[in-house]
Amino acid sequence: MRTPICDRLGCDVPIFAFSHCRDVIVEITKAGGFGVLGAGTHSPQQLEQELKWIDEHVGGKPYGIDVLIPLKYDKEADASTAALEDILPAEQKDFLQKFLRDEHVPELTPDEAKAAREERAEKERNHSPNGSRRLIDVALRHPQVKLVVNALGPPPKEIVDELHGRGLLVGALCGKPNHAAAHRAAGVDILIAQGTEAGGHTGEISTLVLVPQIVDAAGPEIAVLAAGGISRGRQIVAAFALGAQGVWCGTIWLGTRESELTPLEKQVLFAARTEDAVRRKWMTGKTVRMIKSKTSEAWEQPGAPKHLLPPLQNALYHAARVRIEKAGRADLVSMPAGQVVGLMTEETSVKQIVMDMMNEYVETAERLVPLIHMAEEN
Ligand SMILES: Cc1cc2nc3c(=O)[nH]c(=O)nc-3n(C[C@H](O)[C@H](O)[C@H](O)COP(=O)(O)O)c2cc1C
Repeated sequence: MRTPICDRLGCDVPIFAFSHCRDVIVEITKAGGFGVLGAGTHSPQQLEQELKWIDEHVGGKPYGIDVLIPLKYDKEADASTAALEDILPAEQKDFLQKFLRDEHVPELTPDEAKAAREERAEKERNHSPNGSRRLIDVALRHPQVKLVVNALGPPPKEIVDELHGRGLLVGALCGKPNHAAAHRAAGVDILIAQGTEAGGHTGEISTLVLVPQIVDAAGPEIAVLAAGGISRGRQIVAAFALGAQGVWCGTIWLGTRESELTPLEKQVLFAARTEDAVRRKWMTGKTVRMIKSKTSEAWEQPGAPKHLLPPLQNALYHAARVRIEKAGRADLVSMPAGQVVGLMTEETSVKQIVMDMMNEYVETAERLVPLIHMAEEN
């Protein structure tokens, strides 16, 4: 399964794990793959702690971080020094408040509200250029970080040049063939071709259609990883057949014992069917594939207010998330998850998933060999 990207990044197999959870990053590294920590949910201080912990547990192996520098964001909010919830427009704030009241979701106590507010204050601007810059600065203090990936557009060229100057590789997600051209122009080394099946921010083109287009647009110097709907060995064979050098998975790790999801979120995850993973703007103001809930659907109803741009919509989402979690309301929980969620029914481990992927990969590849010989004979 070894491909050139393994040598460039120093891993054994080109199975990339995107996760917000440090334990997943460590376990995937131990299993021979490459972990990329989603930094967008951490404050700079938290990120520093997480990277220190990962450094201590990965035995000198490399790993990456992922930031969210969106092309479209609320510039006033990014520049403001006020807490985001103080500058949220009344229309959206009142809509959410009324929805939660109508659903009988209790308010937090003043102490809980204060704790939740403080927790958010440090990390609420992470989905913006200034916030992402602070996270990259933290990562640069950790020499085992060898890859920085940007999710929501081409990373600014000056950041790419700086990271290259420090010996890091740079990746970027793309959901359309024209994204590849913009990423190439910015000097990106790895393109993650993410099909619509994926959990998180996602476009409209399926992985099967997107990956070969991105491979063709990338040219020989840029490695392509296939993402979106990949959770097993058969799909890894397919990704290689499409021209990818590896696979980049996110949803499948959510159901592991190493994942950070709360018991309530895991309950929602294992109950969800493939068709419950829908694209909505409720979390960030950009289209995210998430498990649908009464909350995500409320924003789709006629008369619902417009979604705000990042990072303002994120602030609304996080304020509601704590209340919903405390109320234990599974029917109101929406979290990012891709279509493979329908295949996930019980808790497993990162190690087990990688072993299953590799076994099925070998069986599938062996099954295909006679087909190739038959084609040669005809
Ligand atoms: C819970 C969750 C959160 C995600 N958050 C991010 C993110 O912050 N940055 C990013 O680049 N991708 C994010 N993604 C997308 C993943 O990087 C990856 O492309 C996607 O999960 C692959 O498709 P899959 O979900 O079918 O495995 C997220 C995915 C999930 C499931």
